[in-house]
Amino acid sequence: MTAKVRVGIVGTGGIARARHLPCLTENESAELVGLCDIKPDVLKKAGDDFDVAARYTDYLEMYDNENLDAVVVCTPNDVHAPATIAALERGINVLCEKPMALDPTEGEAMLAAAEKSGKLLTFGFHYRHMPEVMAARRVVDSGELGDVYMVRVQALRRRGIPSWGTFVHKHIQGGGAMIDFGVHLLDSALWLMGNPKAIEVTASLSQRLGKSPNVNTWGDWNYQEFTVEDQVAAFVRFENGVTMMLECAWAINIPESRENISLSGTKAGLEVFPLSVNKADHEMLTTWKPDWIADAKLDPGAHQAAEFVNAVRTGGTVVTKPSQALQVTRIVDAMYRSAESGEAVKL
Ligand SMILES: NC(=O)c1ccc[n+]([C@@H]2O[C@H](COP(=O)([O-])OP(=O)(O)OC[C@H]3O[C@@H](n4cnc5c(N)ncnc54)[C@H](O)[C@@H]3O)[C@@H](O)[C@H]2O)c1
Repeated sequence: MTAKVRVGIVGTGGIARARHLPCLTENESAELVGLCDIKPDVLKKAGDDFDVAARYTDYLEMYDNENLDAVVVCTPNDVHAPATIAALERGINVLCEKPMALDPTEGEAMLAAAEKSGKLLTFGFHYRHMPEVMAARRVVDSGELGDVYMVRVQALRRRGIPSWGTFVHKHIQGGGAMIDFGVHLLDSALWLMGNPKAIEVTASLSQRLGKSPNVNTWGDWNYQEFTVEDQVAAFVRFENGVTMMLECAWAINIPESRENISLSGTKAGLEVFPLSVNKADHEMLTTWKPDWIADAKLDPGAHQAAEFVNAVRTGGTVVTKPSQALQVTRIVDAMYRSAESGEAVKL
């Protein structure tokens, strides 16, 4: 393909305005040709601000009228599967925001639609496009850590409950802190681990701080309709013998918010945020930290958009495969089932 990639956006709310609309506008190989949102005022503002004339309140009409090469799905989670599958069925490549879907059944249908269509399907796990995560992957690939056998994942906000959109509604989002925020760190951790198969998940969750008015650095949220979890603790075993401990919260009483992935291997350990490698060698315990990281100034959203647009143009590949996104959805779903039953869930 030599012409610009013709892109449409489904859902022109928070993440579309903050990331996809600006990144695609700036990408010289992409052309924004259509926008869709069920809220006419939101649609008008996005269309006016980003100078896109073709506007729709029904994504099927946009798919059928605009001769799209690609679409970015930025709706609440319950629309990810239907909007993605309908696009793939029409031969349109898809970048869908995270999480993949509400549950593994939807995710499997999305994967099957991608395989049947032969079109590209990828997901907005933009943490994989962060300089520290890409650098961590280079360290892991070099073999410097030896055999990684223990992984710790932290996605902890002291007070950061999303106050816009539909994030607190279980039937629309499928869950709360874990399916919204924890998935980023879980996805990057799995990618750094080489995506081994998870075989057993144990988890507990709470719905405490989100259900009553409280301090929140992200503004007032709808605590009266809060039907999701605000915190998850989980223990995951993998087929290759690796163990993962995961902590996630939108709101929890800790001194400061913390995001990190920590890999412990037989030769060295690695922390991702901030990046460091720790070793025991030459009669010393050492920790090295990078003075400079390649692409340190790179914007993860722009990098993700460029990768997607380039893959659509050239038939190239993307870093986030649908089977890996489905693995994240399966593990998150197992966490919710384990928390509900009080039992370990086998996968
Ligand atoms: N990658 C990230 O870091 C990141 C950050 C924020 C949100 N997200 C994801 O992006 C998605 C949207 O989040 P948001 O913060 O933009 O929410 P939002 O509520 O601000 O925007 C969603 C928009 O989708 C529209 N919409 C709903 N149903 C629709 C339909 N059937 N057709 C067309 N439009 C429809 C809504 O009217 C709304 O304007 C969620 O899945 C969320 O998990 C990802």
